[in-house]
Amino acid sequence: ESAVIVAIDGPAGTGKSSTSKAVAAALGLRYLDTGAQYRAITWWMITNGVDTADAAAIATASDKPAIVSGTDPAGPTITVDGEDVSAPIRTPEVSARVSAVSAVPEVRTRITGLQQAIAAAAETGIVVEGRDIGTTVLPDADLKIFLTASAEARAARRAGELKGADVEATRQALVKRDAADSGRATSPLAMAADAVEVDTTELTLQQVVDRVVALVEERR
Ligand code: C5P
Repeated sequence: ESAVIVAIDGPAGTGKSSTSKAVAAALGLRYLDTGAQYRAITWWMITNGVDTADAAAIATASDKPAIVSGTDPAGPTITVDGEDVSAPIRTPEVSARVSAVSAVPEVRTRITGLQQAIAAAAETGIVVEGRDIGTTVLPDADLKIFLTASAEARAARRAGELKGADVEATRQALVKRDAADSGRATSPLAMAADAVEVDTTELTLQQVVDRVVALVEERR
């Protein structure tokens, strides 16, 4: 069996991370959360006083932080310059600024290179989740999944994760982030022509995982 590469893309709150981790664990594959990498570079910009509305400043600083991702689906890790940033990259401030930072072409080139190197090194294969994995990062993936769900279902799930968050405010923040991610010029959020679309609105996590695992088994 050769290394199997699975790309899982879609908007925020569709269950990409939960699904990707469970699929990787079930199949003995590595796991990469590419959103965490864009969050990490955004966190570094904020922490170092780089104006996230200034694309030229972000481009200049884009190769400064050292971002290292651990790929164990049971406990993925992410560090910036050796510091564990898994908690601070999930704040509402980072969520509100990450689309602007990730739209800068120099940032995408740098982070895409990291992603391709990690995938190439995963001898057992890997599940990579994000926005542009099937279209740009790993266009030759063995299986491409595009997860969708209604905005209401996505907001309810995300507000449930961020205990106490207001569902309507969460819905508005998600819709705004998706519009920015879909509308940017460089590798926008988009479904690859050869992706399988899975609408998770009415499905449990286990149903989605079973479906994706079955699709991988068909292809290997
Ligand atoms: O997946 P998550 O919601 O954590 O991603 C955070 C942000 O990172 C997205 O809203 C998007 O702006 C950016 N991103 C991206 N390309 C990817 C993954 C994430 O631009 N492959």
